[in-house]
Amino acid sequence: MDTHLTLEFGHRDPLPAGHADEVRTPDVLVERFLRKYTDPGDRVLDPFAGFGTTLVAADRLGRVPFGVEYERDRVAAIRDRLGGDHGGEIRHGSALDLDGSWFPPCDCCFTSPPFMTHSIDLNPFENYEGESTYADYLDDIEAAFRGVASAMAPGGTVVVDVVNLREGDHVTPLAFDVADRVSEVLRFDGEVVIEWEGDGYEDTPGCYGYGFDHSYCLVFEKGSSE
Ligand SMILES: C[S@@+](CC[C@H](N)C(=O)[O-])C[C@H]1O[C@@H](n2cnc3c(N)ncnc32)[C@H](O)[C@@H]1O
Repeated sequence: MDTHLTLEFGHRDPLPAGHADEVRTPDVLVERFLRKYTDPGDRVLDPFAGFGTTLVAADRLGRVPFGVEYERDRVAAIRDRLGGDHGGEIRHGSALDLDGSWFPPCDCCFTSPPFMTHSIDLNPFENYEGESTYADYLDDIEAAFRGVASAMAPGGTVVVDVVNLREGDHVTPLAFDVADRVSEVLRFDGEVVIEWEGDGYEDTPGCYGYGFDHSYCLVFEKGSSE
């Protein structure tokens, strides 16, 4: 795959009523990576499933969706979007508890984890309720991806959609810190830089952007002997 992509920002479907401003991943990004790293029939995991962009794209492409989501109403929204006969499973729970017993081994994971900056003290893994520090957050990232690693088939690919975050003249290097911590549990294979075009990718609350016009997809692999 190219290490630099230019994509049009946007979403295929509207969100359920009352959720219009929620952050979600552009379908075009997910599809690009699923086409590259999976074949029809492969199992696709998203441990931070949100409203199901990855899982719905997987189903549309003939892959089998497996997901975890912390918010009960989002789990319901995903199940609604997927319908009944996708062959996978969507669990309500925390990705921090994920292990290899939850699902059959997955071939690919594409996920957009919750973000954190140096300046907040709320816990992203409890949807910004409860306290956390940035250091705790990075520990939780490593723990969550240790669970992801255990849920992957040998040789499976894990793609993590992240950004650095600019607030005024301060930048939280989240993408680089996540790369560092996930590398503790999966082999880092490099990053793809996504340059975003079109409306919606602005430095606007609730949208992608966070002070930059690009994001990163970090690509990891589970070793074939693990
Ligand atoms: C950036 S959003 C994912 C958006 C998703 N890719 C989409 O397009 O809808 C991160 C998601 O992680 C969920 N989340 C937060 N903490 C979690 C946890 N401990 N376990 C699982 N999901 C969690 C949030 O509720 C949110 O839906």
